[in-house]
Amino acid sequence: MTDPLLIGYRRLLRPALFRLGRGDPESAHERALGLLARVSAIPAARAGLSALHAPGEPIEVAGIAFGNRVGLAAGLDKQGAAVRAWGPLGFGHVELGTVTPRPQPGNPRPRIHRFPRSGAIVNAMGFPSEGATALAARLARLGIRRGDGAAGARIGISIGKNKDTPLADAPGDYLAAFAALHAHADYIAVNVSSPNTPGLRTLQDAGTLGELLRALTAAARSADPARPVPIMVKVAPDLGPDALDELLSVCVGAGVAGLIAGNTTLDRTGLAPADRRPATDLAGGLSGRPLTRRALGVVRHLARRGPLPVIGAGGIMTPDDACAMFDAGARLVQLYTGWIYSGPALVNAINRLPYPCRPEE
Ligand SMILES: Cc1cc2nc3c(=O)[nH]c(=O)nc-3n(C[C@H](O)[C@H](O)[C@H](O)COP(=O)(O)O)c2cc1C
Repeated sequence: MTDPLLIGYRRLLRPALFRLGRGDPESAHERALGLLARVSAIPAARAGLSALHAPGEPIEVAGIAFGNRVGLAAGLDKQGAAVRAWGPLGFGHVELGTVTPRPQPGNPRPRIHRFPRSGAIVNAMGFPSEGATALAARLARLGIRRGDGAAGARIGISIGKNKDTPLADAPGDYLAAFAALHAHADYIAVNVSSPNTPGLRTLQDAGTLGELLRALTAAARSADPARPVPIMVKVAPDLGPDALDELLSVCVGAGVAGLIAGNTTLDRTGLAPADRRPATDLAGGLSGRPLTRRALGVVRHLARRGPLPVIGAGGIMTPDDACAMFDAGARLVQLYTGWIYSGPALVNAINRLPYPCRPEE
């Protein structure tokens, strides 16, 4: 990419942002998010940002009208602090959360580690959360409700369980978070794939998952019988083909509207040699460039099987990576690590891709 916006971001803005918080990635992240929150509170600033960004082509997925195909992945704006910034920055949707029903601090810091040489991040956040009620109150204060487009981007909300809730009681946590938040969400994402909450990924097992998802889709139907809020499921990229097939059939049976594939990986391959040892010594999930090929494989598998729409996430670092995701069958894509390393230029470049697009060989 030789986009001047990209070069400006990488050479000027990114070094400054990475230095915020004296080099601690999470402090830098909080300060940058605080800045975005303040800027996006000003209508003229939102209009100015929107004018800089390619809007992209509208698309309907799971019954939701998205302004374009690019979303911000869960975990970057967990509490919706800068919720009105993402539309003007070119995103068609933002997945807030993962939020837990009750507030909790998450794992001890430091818990985000950057590996720029590898285009990667390792995180062990463990769902730090102000809780579902606090997020609902913030969205209500900003007048953001399901379907109204008031945020400038569609709003997904990712929900999870509190760390101290026994796994057997997990459905109660997801239902509580759902009840608090569904009125503000264009879709709800069920996070059963974070590696940083002990045992969470076992909720992907067929029996447990079926019970959880049937409870959530029933709650969605009873909250709005005419137009239940779509429930999406976010999967781990570490599942093999058989486990994916089993998960898919459970999701279809439970009335799920779509899949997000996927979360961070526990695998540590694909890192630059100098990063291998430090990244392997850290607990947590790996994202970014080392995840590209693995995430693509999962998306291709799920999209081929059908019938649920797939949102591709994982290692989308260039427009060509996004193109490969679309080519593999993803209807939408989401960015996290690519946004950290390449900024708004990446969103713009993906929104300018022709459809269908073919990745370069
Ligand atoms: C610091 C950090 C925090 C994250 N928190 C969440 C989260 O709360 N919920 C979730 O579903 N995914 C979370 N993710 C995973 C991302 O949403 C995304 O699925 C993953 O990073 C792969 O995409 P990427 O390679 O573009 O980063 C987090 C990722 C990072 C790097």
